[in-house]
Amino acid sequence: MHDFDAVVIGAGAAGLFCAGVAGQLGLRVLVIDHAEKVAEKIRISGGGRCNFTNRELDPRAPHKHFLGENPNFCRSALSRYTAADFLALVQRHGIPFHEKHKGQLFGDRSAEDFIGMLLAECGAGGVQRWQPCRVQAVRTASAGYELDTDRGLVRAPRVVVATGGLSIPKIGATDFGHRLAQQFGLKVVAPRPALVPLTFEGEGWAPYAQLAGLALPVRIATGERKAAMAFDEDLLFTHRGLSGPAVLQISSYWRPGTPVRIDLAPGHDLQEVLLQAKLRSRKLIANEIAGLVPSRLADAWVQQNPGWQRPVNEAADKSLGALAQALGRWELVPTGSEGYRKAEVTAGGVDTRELSQQTMESRQPGLYFIGEVVDVTGWLGGYNFQWAWASGWACAQAMAAGRAPADGPTAAGG
Ligand code: FDA
Repeated sequence: MHDFDAVVIGAGAAGLFCAGVAGQLGLRVLVIDHAEKVAEKIRISGGGRCNFTNRELDPRAPHKHFLGENPNFCRSALSRYTAADFLALVQRHGIPFHEKHKGQLFGDRSAEDFIGMLLAECGAGGVQRWQPCRVQAVRTASAGYELDTDRGLVRAPRVVVATGGLSIPKIGATDFGHRLAQQFGLKVVAPRPALVPLTFEGEGWAPYAQLAGLALPVRIATGERKAAMAFDEDLLFTHRGLSGPAVLQISSYWRPGTPVRIDLAPGHDLQEVLLQAKLRSRKLIANEIAGLVPSRLADAWVQQNPGWQRPVNEAADKSLGALAQALGRWELVPTGSEGYRKAEVTAGGVDTRELSQQTMESRQPGLYFIGEVVDVTGWLGGYNFQWAWASGWACAQAMAAGRAPADGPTAAGG
């Protein structure tokens, strides 16, 4: 029998950070993970450099960068532990970093720096780590909870679930957190892959399949009216469809069966450009539009219509107008997505109405959920890690403050 003040299940971003903070606040903390190596997602994040937070995150308006049934749920945690707080920790550990576009902060060297930092913080808090170690069962007991694990029975008044989402099963993602929530009667918002490449099939896609590897800046949108969402980012053609930051971002908002709309030459009045060209040029239309989009795309594009395979001065105004319209509003319905195999995150998860936005404790006293397992999903760009840090911090503070589990949710659903 092993006794702790808190057991954290999942040694990823949220779990390790929460454990380190709680340990340094005086709790005896055990972290359990079934994987051989901790924090595999940090290791592969940001192309191996870890985009660890984002300077543009506005905690007062989380709906700008987060999705979920109630994006405002994360306001409290994000306000109390900010991007600047995490940055200060990174600086205390002497980790060099740089800012990329749109406020994204990356390590200069390797994501390993951040894993080392989290493990050092856990070390400073006397946190015990068991891994690889499976948790076979969690049940309530007189002292709170009992866990059956590969290393024996563990008792603790508090259990923190930090097992993340379903993305990338090959490095250890499971639905453990969702199942545990359901075991205790807590609702789970149906999970779905997010920040994921979209796929296209059939004859309609054939002309573009040959463009794999091609990238260009676009404006991409989905949804109608109030539900409309748009991003100005880079698009990447792949063998099976579309990817790149533009598509990853829009995928989180895209609903199966609905179209995405792409402006392939954002910032240009294409009709005007083509009509002007008609007055002064004898170049092929493909060569004219190659000034606005990559020439491989221009070539593939004009194949769609014999009226576009001629010198611009010989084209009908109507035909040029149709071309401008097609390039500026390319509307296509994805067949699907690359799924959890390639998704960077999982949207959905433990329903925020079941949790306290101050403490992350659920309606089941003493049971906390933090990080990606919760129905809070950030944009690409360091937002998901900031949610992991902030929710982990809020949970650790609450546990250390010794809030009696009977306090229950303080503001369920935000
Ligand atoms: P996380 O997935 O980090 O950790 C969960 C832990 O629980 C894992 O260690 C897992 O082994 C363990 N676990 C799962 N099931 C278990 C079970 N049954 N028993 C015991 N342990 C179990 N975000 C960002 O902000 N910036 C970035 O640069 C990137 N880049 C990026 C790249 C790629 C390729 C991916 C897949 C994802 C990203 N992300 C990202 C997203 C980010 O990695 C993710 O949101 C956080 O890691 C979530 O942190 P969590 O701690 O909630 O889960």
